[in-house]
Formats: sequence, C-alpha cells, structure tokens
Amino acid sequence: NSRKFFVGGNWKCNGTTEGVKKIVSMLNNGVVPSQDVVEVVVSPSFVYLDTVKSSLRSDFHVAAQNCWVNKGGAFTGEVSAEMLANLEIPWVILGHSERRALLNESEEFVGDKVAYALARGLKVIACVGETLEQRESGSTMDVVAAQTKTIAERLLNWTNVVLAYEPVWAIGTGKVASPAQAQEVHYELRKWLQENVSAEIAATTRIIYGGSVSGANCKELAGQPDVDGFLVGGASLKPEFIEIIKSAT
Ligand code: G3H
Repeated sequence: NSRKFFVGGNWKCNGTTEGVKKIVSMLNNGVVPSQDVVEVVVSPSFVYLDTVKSSLRSDFHVAAQNCWVNKGGAFTGEVSAEMLANLEIPWVILGHSERRALLNESEEFVGDKVAYALARGLKVIACVGETLEQRESGSTMDVVAAQTKTIAERLLNWTNVVLAYEPVWAIGTGKVASPAQAQEVHYELRKWLQENVSAEIAATTRIIYGGSVSGANCKELAGQPDVDGFLVGGASLKPEFIEIIKSAT
C-alpha cells in the first residue's frame, strides 16, 4: 500500500530538562530508516516543545499533546491551535483516552478540536479506542465507529489526519492487543471509512495502533496489513523507541 509508516512517541506528562535532553540525544543518535519509509513524530509536554523542536534531528518532527477547541482568548491554562501554528509545531494529538476519561472531554468536544486544529493548518493524530468493559460487552466496533463518526462529520479533508486506535485496556498496562485483535479493529475502521467517507480516504489514511507497544512486540504488529504504525507511550522514552521505528521495514 501507499501509506507511509508512522511512529509517534507520546511522552505524556513526563520529563525534566535533563531527561528531555537525554531522550533527544538518544533519538538524534538512532540509526533508522529514511523519511521516505517512516514518519517519526515525538510529543513532549508543551513546556519542552520548543527545546525539543530546536534540538531534534530534522527528519523527526514534534507534536503537541492537546490544544484548545477554538480561537484563543480568555481560557486560562489553555494553548490555542494558532499558537502551535505560530511556533511551527506541525502536529497535535487530540482525543487521547486519558483526556477523554480524566478531563471529561466529550466526543463532540474532541471532534470540534480536530476540525479547528486542521483548519489552522495543523496535522492531527486523532485517537479512538474502547474500554475493557466495552470490549467485553462486545461493543468495540460500535464505540470506535461512533468516535470516528463524530470526527468524520466535522471534516472536509482527511489529508492531515492520522487515526490512532488505542484500546484503553492496553494503555500503560503491558497488555498489548494481539496482532489479530489490532488488525481486526484496524480493518473494520478502514471499512468504516470506505463506507462512510470514501474509498480513497480509506485507502490512504494511516491507522496506527497504540497501547503497550514495545521493542519486543512491534514487529509482529507492524506486519498486519492494516496497521500503519504506532502511537507509543512508555517505550517512547526509552532506547527501544528506535527499535520500534525500525519496525517500519
Ligand atoms: O499515546 C500513547 C498510548 O497511550 C500508549 O501508551 O505505550 O504507555 O501503553 P503506552
């Protein structure tokens, strides 16, 4: 297929000046396939974005972990999409399950954020995924389709969107989805895009997997036909992130 492999590193709310420097140097010294083969994007906290952007190798890019839903203004503590665009931060992660669950971000709020960030010229890693309870009750596809629909109905253009499937039960738990479990949902999501958006968008949109991806399990997951890359949490802070990037080939 024509979808370039995508590896995102979500550093979440981690790091210190020293720690961030170490990760950047680990990344800068990593031997990985070329940009033609794999797109690499790392996402430090807002406070380290500028440092990371200016010290990171030029073939890797940065993402913010969130942004405000609309134009900036009197929204204490928020960071607007305009600000990210102004700083030339190319990517933003939106709809991460930690924000949906802990910060009560609703589906509509996430959908509005995705649409607004895209309209400001940012590229978006949009996250969807079911909880363990939802999986066990058999509603995985209904849940991820509904989350995707809320985003899709607000979008005019999918060019700058990467869809991240992150089952909540697999995030930070060490319980990675099996390659078959990941492939099944990625296949269904692509079918959903084909039936509800277009065959072209379905064929070209990257659907990446997130949830306990490691150096040890990445290769087999990457071998699944509908897994176009990863959104990595814990392992993106460690040298094994380089191994995960290498699973592109
Ligand atoms: O955004 C990344 C995901 O939440 C995965 O986190 O690799 O630590 O499980 P994890």
